[in-house]
Amino acid sequence: MKFDIDFFKTLLPENLHNLEIEYFDEIDSTNSYLLYRKEFLDKILVIADYQTLGRGRFNRKWYSNPGENLMFSIGLKNINVSYLQKFSFITPLSVQEAIEENLNLNLNIKWPNDLIVDSKKVCGILIETQIQNSEKAKVVVGIGINVNQTHFQDEIKDRTTSLKLLLNQEINREILLSKILDLFFKYTNLISVDFETIYQKYKSKCFGIGQKVSVLFGDKIYTGILFDINRNGELELLTENTKLSFNSGEITIIKE
Ligand code: BTN
Repeated sequence: MKFDIDFFKTLLPENLHNLEIEYFDEIDSTNSYLLYRKEFLDKILVIADYQTLGRGRFNRKWYSNPGENLMFSIGLKNINVSYLQKFSFITPLSVQEAIEENLNLNLNIKWPNDLIVDSKKVCGILIETQIQNSEKAKVVVGIGINVNQTHFQDEIKDRTTSLKLLLNQEINREILLSKILDLFFKYTNLISVDFETIYQKYKSKCFGIGQKVSVLFGDKIYTGILFDINRNGELELLTENTKLSFNSGEITIIKE
């Protein structure tokens, strides 16, 4: 079923009535659209029912069937550069909490910001930034959630799932999106006031801390114990000889 943009707008809490919203039945990528939009508005939401060139981290493609999932990007500007990293905490946390509170389903965060259940991915997040000056930046937070899709391409089907597959019921995308946005903007306001609460909540949902993992960073793989995710969002890996920190990468749990 097509995303009902008019119904969605009626669900937004009052504090989000000034959010600029653009909806597309089809677009190349909501992230690309915002990054190249002539005028970069503050507090803008772009939703698509289908993306022809959906993008993921590491230049991967993001596949999503039309009319079944959530694909959207939030654009913000004049963000203090020291806060940019915090979006890696608040974005997965907002999606995780919205799903837990509204659908009673517990997802885990896989560093840095995937959402998974039993090692299968439900949500991917792509955060891109553009520096405005030495203090301020624009940020585009792109979120893709497998909501009602039940069949996935061969190349991803073993490591991908959806809310519908997990809950055995069709999920209302408009309600879910409104809850995510409510939490996302609440957490955005909390960054400067109480980051510690955000950090502790994020970590409590993080998967793999204390376990043996491999980290793919560039074209190298490092193995060790996932010691911690620090307040800068870096993964700390305890190898045989030393402690290494990674600010990006991809982890895999090593089952022994
Ligand atoms: C990942 O897991 O690698 C991140 C996937 C992010 C996908 C979303 S869908 C909406 C937005 N537009 C894009 O092209 N990508 C993000």
